[in-house]
Amino acid sequence: MTLDGSNESPLRVLAISGSLRKASFNTGLLRAAREIAPDGMEINIFDIRDLPFYDGDVEAQGDPAPVIALKSAVRDADAVLFATPEYNWGTSGVLKNAIDWASRDREEGSLMGKPATLIGAGGRAGTARAQMQLLETLGETGSVVMVKPGVHIQAFAPGTFDSEGNLIDEATKEALRRHLDEFMNWSARLLWPRHFIGFACEMDIALAQA
Ligand SMILES: Cc1cc2nc3c(=O)[nH]c(=O)nc-3n(C[C@H](O)[C@H](O)[C@H](O)COP(=O)(O)O)c2cc1C
Repeated sequence: MTLDGSNESPLRVLAISGSLRKASFNTGLLRAAREIAPDGMEINIFDIRDLPFYDGDVEAQGDPAPVIALKSAVRDADAVLFATPEYNWGTSGVLKNAIDWASRDREEGSLMGKPATLIGAGGRAGTARAQMQLLETLGETGSVVMVKPGVHIQAFAPGTFDSEGNLIDEATKEALRRHLDEFMNWSARLLWPRHFIGFACEMDIALAQA
């Protein structure tokens, strides 16, 4: 059962990791998110490794295949989940580059008006500064970003990830689960408002009869 009251339309979440490393903690976070996603949420991970650097001249000649793939993945998704590392207090260049390409698709769906959220695993600040920077960027792309409850993981704490970047800490999984549950509600409120209006009306009726 999904939040829009049907069995047929899960919330399709596009997940993008800002790290290209094979044993990336951030990509590991997204794999964990895919495993523990709430009922009615389907997470697909998109690999941004093949995207070229954004170049207006390349764009003018027509989008390269990886860019077309990214734009259609964003368009087909109901919502987007970003996992960012922190590089020198900011997000990674590859993730910013992917967002720059995706932001060039304003007419056709794109990130504009799209529910989005951020998670991350990094050094001692748990990517808080990278997430703040990303929040500014996504403000400009017009995405509707959920910040809380938040997932800021100190990736080097022993027992958090294994050597392949898989999330193994149960408390961290629980925090991720809570964030995804809230993201399901957040996205549903934006995408399927009638579900919530219906609920409000039932409350009004119940209160009026009380
Ligand atoms: C170039 C570079 C800069 C970094 N700068 C920061 C930083 O400013 N703050 C921080 O907490 N961690 C920093 N780190 C550590 C990364 O956040 C950490 O290695 C993280 O696990 C990388 O994500 P990944 O495992 O998904 O590849 C930096 C790492 C690199 C390679």
